[in-house]
Amino acid sequence: MTASYRVFVTRVLPGEGFAELRKDPAFDLDVWPVDFPPTREELLQHVAGVDGLVCLITDAIDAAVLDAAGEQLKVVSQMAVGVDNVDVAACSARGIPVGNTPGVLTETTADMAWALILSSARRVVEAAEYVKAGQWQTWTPTQMAGVDVFGSTLGVIGFGAIGQAIARRAQGFGMRVLCWNRTSRPDEAAAVGAEQCDFDDLLSQSDFVCVSIALTDDTRNLIDARAFELMQPGAILVNTARGPIVDEEALVDALRGGAIAGAGLDVTAVEPLSMDSPLLQMNNVVVLPHIGSASLATRSKMADMAVANLRAGLAGEALPHAVSPAVGSR
Ligand code: DGY
Repeated sequence: MTASYRVFVTRVLPGEGFAELRKDPAFDLDVWPVDFPPTREELLQHVAGVDGLVCLITDAIDAAVLDAAGEQLKVVSQMAVGVDNVDVAACSARGIPVGNTPGVLTETTADMAWALILSSARRVVEAAEYVKAGQWQTWTPTQMAGVDVFGSTLGVIGFGAIGQAIARRAQGFGMRVLCWNRTSRPDEAAAVGAEQCDFDDLLSQSDFVCVSIALTDDTRNLIDARAFELMQPGAILVNTARGPIVDEEALVDALRGGAIAGAGLDVTAVEPLSMDSPLLQMNNVVVLPHIGSASLATRSKMADMAVANLRAGLAGEALPHAVSPAVGSR
């Protein structure tokens, strides 16, 4: 049987779905073999003539890429829930559906937000580095003393599935939970014991401010110098969404000036974060390499969903998980 679909996959994926795809004679797969993403030129070359594209958050899929692919491109399938790296409007204008992977990473990402809340509050990373550096000489009353999480106030910015999952976990810590979303979500808030509130009130009343909102033109730099001024000096900012939602220069100023007490960041404005970033010099900042959804089980499910979206798009069917379902596939 001759392959009927040419597909570029921008990285080797985990999961059964991808393993089966590789064996399927109906697909002529070009799989980018290394962990570093293809350069812009390599991406433009490798998409030429493909029917399907499977991409990651590190690949900028814009009009030029779609044009380089050609008119036969039927589907763009992203292995992530966030699609800010994909020009969805340009895809829609060409009738190309875009798939993503919602749902399966909700709980895993909420766990990571909590890992950052707890490690920032209780100085876990700093304390572990202290032990490894041989600095642990004795026990003192205030050694590595942090702040309590239980009984404090958590503010969740963005109350989609992940924001709700972060809030739900707070019940076990006896916390007051505040939430803010661009559209009101009273039922979702009530279901997890959260109070909907005004953006400014959330900032000024929360001990922990957790960012869990999609990156759009409206949310870029949502957490800016003004937001930091509203926050409490003891507050900790946690971001597991997208780096550019936080104005990183304003964050550095807020941390240096004592406007807030610390930050736990799974994402940064530019990834990877430059080794020159002042954030890496601060003991009260934990930076992780965008691993919110990184459990093996979840990443495999995400890859399976991306493959399912690819297969559906190539077959001209509605994608099981579509960002832009309204457009007809080619
Ligand atoms: C996503 O899915 O958008 C995450 O950032 C990567 O898992």
